[in-house]
Amino acid sequence: MTSDLLAGLEPPPPSRAGIGPGAVVLRGRALGLVPALLAAVERVAEAAPFRHMVTPGGFEMSVAMTNCGTAGWITDRAGYRYAAEDPMTGRPWPALPEVLRDLAHEAAEEAGYPGFDPDACLINRYEPGARLTLHQDRDERNRGHPIVSVSLGLPATFQFGGLKRTDPLLRVPLTHGDVVVWGGPSRLFHHGILPLKEGEHPELGARRLNLTLRRAL
Ligand code: SIN
Ligand code: FE2
Repeated sequence: MTSDLLAGLEPPPPSRAGIGPGAVVLRGRALGLVPALLAAVERVAEAAPFRHMVTPGGFEMSVAMTNCGTAGWITDRAGYRYAAEDPMTGRPWPALPEVLRDLAHEAAEEAGYPGFDPDACLINRYEPGARLTLHQDRDERNRGHPIVSVSLGLPATFQFGGLKRTDPLLRVPLTHGDVVVWGGPSRLFHHGILPLKEGEHPELGARRLNLTLRRAL
């Protein structure tokens, strides 16, 4: 009886949707962890502030980024790469919070990738209009590991294509609490985020956060 009463207070069980070979969206998977995830992001951003990095071609990215973990993804005129230190502060990136490591490990397992042990988390902050053009995640040393991507705040449209840039793109709506996992045959699939629409999220305001967990080294 107690469990019946409690059941009404818990978030609904996550549903899953396949979006490609070895790729799945775990709907609402992170909903029960939102306060802990937001606190973790806030702590990271205190030590390693969000910044707009510059692409090798000299364009400032519309998405503001920071990192935590033993390696952080950066871009500047010299190229895309992982770096152990934050170039803005000269200090190592903040450690990967346990809540992030555990969520990534569990979500990867649920998606068919047991044993995932991330060492890097790129934190992307989108404001209305910000977007991420189609790209592949290919700066990691070993592409045998999956990618786990957590969405918080305003909804966004995730484009998920194929190995070729010109492959047809699936448009996947991602909302607060969704977790996408891709790996294996889709590990190098092209993906991106369409320009964020105006809006106001009850917990995050006019923002979307994306936490992308990877094994970089
Ligand atoms: C990324 O590809 O690094 C981020 C994708 C997202 O914001 O959902
Ligand atoms: Fe990516």
